[in-house]
Amino acid sequence: MQTSWKQEVVANQFEAYNDILEQTLGFRFVFDILSTVPGGKRVLDYGCGPGKVAYRLAESMDLNVVAVDESSNMLDIAVQKRSHPQVDYHRIENDQLTFLEDNSVYGAMTCYVFINTSSQERIQRIMREIHRVLAPGAPYAILDTHPDSTGIEFSTFRNGVPGKKYKHGEARQEWLHLPEREDMILHDFHWPKEMYRQLLQEVGFKNIECLEPTLQHIPLGELREIEQASQFDQWKMERDYPPFLIYRAVKDA
Ligand SMILES: C[S@@+](CC[C@H](N)C(=O)[O-])C[C@H]1O[C@@H](n2cnc3c(N)ncnc32)[C@H](O)[C@@H]1O
Repeated sequence: MQTSWKQEVVANQFEAYNDILEQTLGFRFVFDILSTVPGGKRVLDYGCGPGKVAYRLAESMDLNVVAVDESSNMLDIAVQKRSHPQVDYHRIENDQLTFLEDNSVYGAMTCYVFINTSSQERIQRIMREIHRVLAPGAPYAILDTHPDSTGIEFSTFRNGVPGKKYKHGEARQEWLHLPEREDMILHDFHWPKEMYRQLLQEVGFKNIECLEPTLQHIPLGELREIEQASQFDQWKMERDYPPFLIYRAVKDA
């Protein structure tokens, strides 16, 4: 079973999730990676969902974001709630970025897309297509829930069953805690850390690095600002365990 992102009810539930943890320990690091784009301003958000990340990126940096997704319900929410002069939303099919030429974007991100993808071959096909459209020297960031943090209770979600060991590609549920509603259950897949590195290498990326931040990596002043801005300080295991992994790679110059 796979999460049906194309269904309206799923798109609306995901929209209601408070992604403060993803912002603090995920997107912050992805944006750092994209702040190093060489040359042009066009960057790609592959699997943009309701546009939260693309919108924030456009608000915080002088970049033009091409945000793509295969779900029209997700894109409807994005266009209604997060239209932005620097963000261009597109629907794609069959993992193909046919409207983008080779070497034509200067940075790319895939946030929480591969944990939703049921086959390693498909993940590699997406990476290969992203590699095709990236310009030489351009950075690529992947953000996913951390496969070594299954069963750990983080403040806004739990990924997998406590005590269970997951096999390569095994189905794995994730419980997103929604404000004043029942948890949203996502049907993810378990991809070990090393798989990302192997696939990135195979499609031709270089300088591959993995980041695994916890709250201890966030400067205290910045953390206090986040808490004040979001009126949230109920942190849990993310103090000591990384909820997410971030891969950084570069297309060979
Ligand atoms: C968990 S949501 C993440 C949305 C957004 N990146 C974020 O972090 O808020 C995953 C999104 O990826 C999209 N997606 C998954 N596989 C895809 C594929 N092969 N091609 C295009 N979109 C895909 C889904 O439709 C869904 O909107």
